[in-house]
Amino acid sequence: MCGIIGYVGENNSTSYIINGLKKLEYRGYDSAGISILQDDKIVTVRSVGKVAELEKAALQVNPQGTTGIGHTRWATHGRPSEENSHPHRDCSGELVVVHNGIIENYLTLRDKLKKLGHTFKSETDTEVIAHLIEENLAHTRAANDEEKLLKAVQKTNGQIAGAFAIGVMWARTPGMLIGVKTQSPLVVGLGKKENFLASDVPAFLQHTNKALFLEDGEMVVLRTDGVTLFDASGKEKKVKATKISWDQKTAEKGGYAHFMIKEIYDQPQALEDTLRTARTDFAKLLGVDEKALRALRNIHIIACGTAYHAGLVGKYYLEQLAGIPTSVDLASEYKYRTIPPFEKTLAIAISQSGETADTIGAIKKAKKLGFGTLAICNVLGSTLTRVCDGTFFTHCGPEISVASTKAFTSQITSLFALAACLGKANGHTSEADFEKYAKNLVRLPKDMAQTVKMEYDVRHLTRKIYKADRFIFLGRNVNFPIALEGALKLKEVSYRSAEGFAAGEIKHGPISIIDKGTPVFMLMPQGELFEKMLSACQECRARGAYVVAITTKGGEKQAKEVADKVFVVPQTDDLLQPILNVVPLQFLAYWIAKRLGCDIDQPRNLAKSVTVE
Ligand code: G6P
Repeated sequence: MCGIIGYVGENNSTSYIINGLKKLEYRGYDSAGISILQDDKIVTVRSVGKVAELEKAALQVNPQGTTGIGHTRWATHGRPSEENSHPHRDCSGELVVVHNGIIENYLTLRDKLKKLGHTFKSETDTEVIAHLIEENLAHTRAANDEEKLLKAVQKTNGQIAGAFAIGVMWARTPGMLIGVKTQSPLVVGLGKKENFLASDVPAFLQHTNKALFLEDGEMVVLRTDGVTLFDASGKEKKVKATKISWDQKTAEKGGYAHFMIKEIYDQPQALEDTLRTARTDFAKLLGVDEKALRALRNIHIIACGTAYHAGLVGKYYLEQLAGIPTSVDLASEYKYRTIPPFEKTLAIAISQSGETADTIGAIKKAKKLGFGTLAICNVLGSTLTRVCDGTFFTHCGPEISVASTKAFTSQITSLFALAACLGKANGHTSEADFEKYAKNLVRLPKDMAQTVKMEYDVRHLTRKIYKADRFIFLGRNVNFPIALEGALKLKEVSYRSAEGFAAGEIKHGPISIIDKGTPVFMLMPQGELFEKMLSACQECRARGAYVVAITTKGGEKQAKEVADKVFVVPQTDDLLQPILNVVPLQFLAYWIAKRLGCDIDQPRNLAKSVTVE
């Protein structure tokens, strides 16, 4: 998984491309490179490490030219090295290619091309694209070089298999770039006398908010004064621009030290924005085929990582509010297990990016099985939203930090709204309960605004515990997935060993890992299971654990008797409580990582969206 960017316009492209790459760094950051068309020569600068390293190297070379492409890499084929960094060249060095995705038939193609005399310099699958275009150029007749390149790329597009978004630049066609898309995201930024090719909108949002999202099989030609789009059959197609409502400020840090902390603080607004559309969107959705939705017998939730934890909370909602049996699968597992052919089944894919390959693969399988498909997604125009029959957008703005925070709470909120709407439609939720839920949802952004005030106290606590080797998180019922998420957040950003368990399960094994001083976080809001959680606190404390209780008003006194530290989170509906309870755990992960000096927004070995299986 990688980020690509291209620029054609009237300005020197180098700074546009470097700045665009910085915005795309969340997609991968083990090496980066740029190629700028300077006069009639391609100048390429590549370096291992983050875009900042590339920027330093580029400053030394200082390439000048109004056409250029760039790439930030997350290695899939070949280790992170200068030779494996993009852009990749053909034998002549006149043609360069950037690529995101995987070329599945690259070994066969490479053998063929080698036999034809092409010399390969890298271990990547991408390099075959450059040589294949070169080979096709040599056998293409056309009136001029622009037409020749177009035909050669079109032919290449038909010869490569897999998932790819590609940017192509040729020294003989200055002021022209070509983009091709199949199963990897590619979007064009439509500017004034300048156009951009990119993996994602933030790469060009500073310059234009008009975007063209490419469909699978499409090819696009960018020139300074316009963009030409071709469908999969090579026929010219009308360019339809989408106006992006995010402003650049939303996509930036807004004065915070890291995107992660900014995004935690974005949550009241994110919930507000998500809820603004929830009621109407779900009503619309129900309006589309209310009969079918009312008749639903099964729901399959599919997701990865944090989104999977949101799905686990969603199961409680859908079963309780809508009475529909719901299973939750890791997308990577769903794809390869036998799914009985249930009738009247809806598959819901949850994904912040809408580009996670496992999730897309799994939902495609659900579709093949004849299930209805719904995406809960944060990215307009993303692949997932185009695969699914319907989409509900979480409106939380771009989430840049690799560790997901605001998307998670927005996903849970959306699932709650969906469950309430389905429950109302099928009669499982009464009108009165529906109104009560709706009221609690409306109050949620305010409750969240109160909850984010906990940062100072959590930060203070981390001073005491940040050096611990192992952290444990316990919860029950709707708060069990929050224990899993608390552990995942901490692992992702601080590289500490952390595990989440259902509190009732601790005595069946996991208690053996509790040692003197092990921090154990207990999610124990007031309610039915509060007493049981008090017992779990005692069990852990008896083994020497440092117990931190996260409770709600009224639980404080009893919690203090069994815990070393107590946090009180604002109280909401029992079912909605996880949305607030996760916040202290988000702060916890952030502050432990910060005290340990970790790279919070771009943790080692991770990427924001994993677009390969
Ligand atoms: C990656 C990220 C995780 C994220 C997961 C799902 O693995 O590192 O933080 O939860 O992808 O991403 P999605 O965009 O599908 O929600």
